[in-house]
Amino acid sequence: MKLFVQTLGCAMNERDSEHMIAELESKEGYTLTDDATQADLILINTCSVREKPERRLFSEIGQYAQQKKKGAKIGVCGCTASHMGAEILRKSSAVDFVLGARNISKITQIIHKPKAVEVDLSYDDSLYAFEGVRSSGVKALLNISIGCDKSCAYCIVPHTRGKEISIPLDLLLAEARKLAQNGIKELLLLGQNVNNYGARFSSAHRQINFSGLLAELAEIDGIERIRFTSPHPLHMDDEFLHEFARNPKVCKSIHMPLQSGSSKILKAMRRGYSKEWFLDRVQRLKSLVPEVTISTDIIVGFVGESEEDFAHTLDVLEQVRFDTLYSFIYSPRPHTLAYSLDPSSHIPKDIAQARLSTLQERHREILREKAQAEIGREYIVLVENTLQDTDIVFSEGRSDNNKLIHIENAALDLGEFVRVRITRNEGGSLFGELA
Ligand code: 5AD
Ligand code: SF4
Repeated sequence: MKLFVQTLGCAMNERDSEHMIAELESKEGYTLTDDATQADLILINTCSVREKPERRLFSEIGQYAQQKKKGAKIGVCGCTASHMGAEILRKSSAVDFVLGARNISKITQIIHKPKAVEVDLSYDDSLYAFEGVRSSGVKALLNISIGCDKSCAYCIVPHTRGKEISIPLDLLLAEARKLAQNGIKELLLLGQNVNNYGARFSSAHRQINFSGLLAELAEIDGIERIRFTSPHPLHMDDEFLHEFARNPKVCKSIHMPLQSGSSKILKAMRRGYSKEWFLDRVQRLKSLVPEVTISTDIIVGFVGESEEDFAHTLDVLEQVRFDTLYSFIYSPRPHTLAYSLDPSSHIPKDIAQARLSTLQERHREILREKAQAEIGREYIVLVENTLQDTDIVFSEGRSDNNKLIHIENAALDLGEFVRVRITRNEGGSLFGELA
């Protein structure tokens, strides 16, 4: 029996797909294929954070329905499944079942229930021990919480993933130890709001916060690097920043989702912090960890965003000089607070598009300026990829602060740590040689 999985959206969805694959392989005898026409089961793991991919869902289902083997099943999973539920079955007769983002531990049951819909938002699988992922790589994803307790005015996620519950420390440590025994060197901790870890468990648990979790995970032999996504700027208190700076296994690269540089818009977005708080946290972080790299998410054209508000966003970009920018035009989503705001204060598409272009252009310039300074620098790189062909030999990996570096003329072992000197930069891609 063959399984094909298409995964859209964030790292959380990737982790959910990995979990479903592991369950189906171990308990139902499936093997993974990358050819949908050969599959007996096709899973589409959907994202609903913006409208466009969601609109495309039904044409995609139509395509799979045409290509698929006779008798093959199609399941729609993830965030769009959560909020559309049974409507998906009504809109497309090709779909065999619908499984919400909060219910993925039920995958091995639902495949046997024709036309079933499982989208219970209060379902709690924080204690569920998923089958282990068969990974031969050097990096692994580790879910530390499910759901999200925030109510950002633009965001559909609390509606698709339910309330936030942390996964018990013992389960996390056991999984991390198993991963280390299987050769995993780097963990990426996942949650909608990772630095709120420990705020709520589903059963009695000793008190622990995210800094405590980082300290515990760092004790595990074999785990050399710990990354996490996404933290919330509101919860970046001094204790967290000190643990980030102090813990040698915690990689010095961080995602700080700004969303907007205007305190007025941040308030309307219900982010819980101001422009000044964000800049203060960045300054503190840079003083503790000068080599830190910072990535961010920015939304332009949120309801009521004036030119002056947007100028504040550009000002933060200028002051922080982010290393990576994920930027989006505001997309109204059902079940959110902003959805029902006065339509006359919605920003016209062409203005939002122009702001997005301005933001992205300035970011690209900043990256070009920063890249020049990289030449001659040395980094410790964890080798994640290597290619040895007749006419080309290279390896690839990331520095502690998350720079992707292409190491020329070196076929290195996966999982090896090497010192690399940057020799050139081509359009933002870094090339180096063994130092
Ligand atoms: N419109 C545009 N972007 C959004 N994001 C979340 N919701 C929306 C929306 N309604 C962005 C945020 C978030 C990232 C994952 O997606 O920037 O951090
Ligand atoms: Fe991830 Fe949010 Fe998309 Fe769900 S809606 S897959 S949580 S980005």
